[in-house]
Amino acid sequence: SHSTVRVINHLDRDYLRQALEHDVTSGLTSSPKWLPPKWFYDATGSELFSRITRLPEYYPTRRELAILRARSAEIVAACGADTLVELGSGTSEKTVLLLDALAAAGRLRGYTPVDVDAVTLEAAARRVAGRFPGVDVRAVCADFEHHLALLPREGRRMVAFLGGTIGNLEPAARAVFLKELRATMRPGDTFLLGADLVKDPGRLVAAYDDAAGVTAEFNRNVLRVINRELNADFQPEAFEHVAVFDERHEWIEMRLRATRAMRVRVDALGLAVSFEEGEEMRTEISAKFRPEGLRAELAAAGFRIGRRYTDPAGDFTLVLAEA
Ligand code: AVJ
Repeated sequence: SHSTVRVINHLDRDYLRQALEHDVTSGLTSSPKWLPPKWFYDATGSELFSRITRLPEYYPTRRELAILRARSAEIVAACGADTLVELGSGTSEKTVLLLDALAAAGRLRGYTPVDVDAVTLEAAARRVAGRFPGVDVRAVCADFEHHLALLPREGRRMVAFLGGTIGNLEPAARAVFLKELRATMRPGDTFLLGADLVKDPGRLVAAYDDAAGVTAEFNRNVLRVINRELNADFQPEAFEHVAVFDERHEWIEMRLRATRAMRVRVDALGLAVSFEEGEEMRTEISAKFRPEGLRAELAAAGFRIGRRYTDPAGDFTLVLAEA
């Protein structure tokens, strides 16, 4: 009795193409220029991110894993779910701990990973299906900022949004996302949110500017994606990786800095953009949170806060909220 795997794709080529065209046009014609982080994650970018999670400087994944190792059984007991929906699932490494705990409690019926990268998504779905026979695995290729309303509603769901990915959204977008998610949830459903906490800026910057240069390659990968998909001629090596902690907003900002003046053509958009020497383009924010702030944001979206779990070092937190 092996599991059924279904893959539901809301990101057909046309949709992805239009979203990328829109984002690249508005980002590259703005001043300052910017690109949204979601385009990091083609198959190469997902692989680079997976390498980031194993770097000595990048603590969030290890801390979150430690919390899940210690607390999954408790979390599962508190939520009463039989179905796990995971937003931005990536390789689903951490998910296995929650799925194990659900299975141990005799309550695992369904798993719905949601990710923008179809390749990573399908691999993760098959891995989970192989490990948990009989579980209904419905992988959804979707953008969690646009397709929340289309996610399967079967079962008593725990929606998990792990890794601190919520920090990629700016405060206004976060509020919209949380409200929309709340609107899709029914009484008894729960939301498990992983968030990175404010800490010493030196450690924060190191986590986003590692000595081996993996994060730098990950950052430049967005240029390779644009080259390939939109027939552009970015020279990724001509851009330097920059990571700074913005103390006012309490977020890490990743940028790409042009090391010389250049002109870049994006043929598919009929666009030519010039960069000045030293010009910086923002490619990601990764917000860091304080427990009070997280509580307030969840409450403003209509969630009731249940428990909160933190690793012994106080680096990372998981919040279990109720619909
Ligand atoms: C996958 C969004 C959680 O913000 O820490 C890692 C992405 N960027 N290193 C993060 C990332 C640079 C990561 N998230």
